[in-house]
Amino acid sequence: MVSIRPERPGDIAARENLLDLCFGEARFLKSSERLREGRRPAAGLAFVAVDHGRVVGTMRLWHVDAGGRPALLLGPLAVDPACRGRGIGAALMRRGLRAAARAGHAAVLLVGDAPYYGRFGFSAATTGALAMPGPFERHRLLASELVPGALDGAAGAILAAGPRRAGEGPAAAGPLAQAA
Ligand SMILES: CC(C)(COP(=O)(O)OP(=O)(O)OC[C@H]1O[C@@H](n2cnc3c(N)ncnc32)[C@H](O)[C@@H]1OP(=O)(O)O)[C@@H](O)C(=O)NCCC(=O)NCCS
Repeated sequence: MVSIRPERPGDIAARENLLDLCFGEARFLKSSERLREGRRPAAGLAFVAVDHGRVVGTMRLWHVDAGGRPALLLGPLAVDPACRGRGIGAALMRRGLRAAARAGHAAVLLVGDAPYYGRFGFSAATTGALAMPGPFERHRLLASELVPGALDGAAGAILAAGPRRAGEGPAAAGPLAQAA
């Protein structure tokens, strides 16, 4: 029986092993990673799928500035190859998107395959004027508006906007920097 629950500190090693298994070292080269490195996920928006006590899926959401509009970046989404095709990816997506909407977030972006993510409401319809901070395939830059019109007029670079991880960057310097 697979359950979806918020990620806990004790899940981190298993999550990282799972991401290594699914993406290999190349995962650190992705442009999406530039928006996540040194940052923490949005509060309450990191989830794991657990099967008999074992982490078999992961998905997280991160604060970004999408060309002047506050948004979340979704990813990585990954499911253990041995557990795919059982709806675990879909369950992680639905849980994450529901939690994001409940928390008042207005839009979610991701870089991924439209044939998969289209079923969750993602398309490239609102991302044509946005750019990732590095190489990306435009047809794979997708978004879903949780609040209709949230990405109207969004244009330009997508920038990291999440809280910095302790010990990394200016936010570690003190309360003033954290408030900036
Ligand atoms: C994409 C992924 C998370 C899906 O996980 P999952 O638990 O197998 O997903 P679900 O069971 O909810 O859905 C499976 C369905 O999605 C389809 N699917 C999976 N990846 C797909 C893709 N890239 N494009 C189109 N369809 C895809 C499967 O063929 C299957 O179709 P079916 O329902 O008609 O049989 C998983 O395949 C994975 O971890 N892949 C490697 C990492 C990755 O590519 N992550 C996404 C980019 S961040």
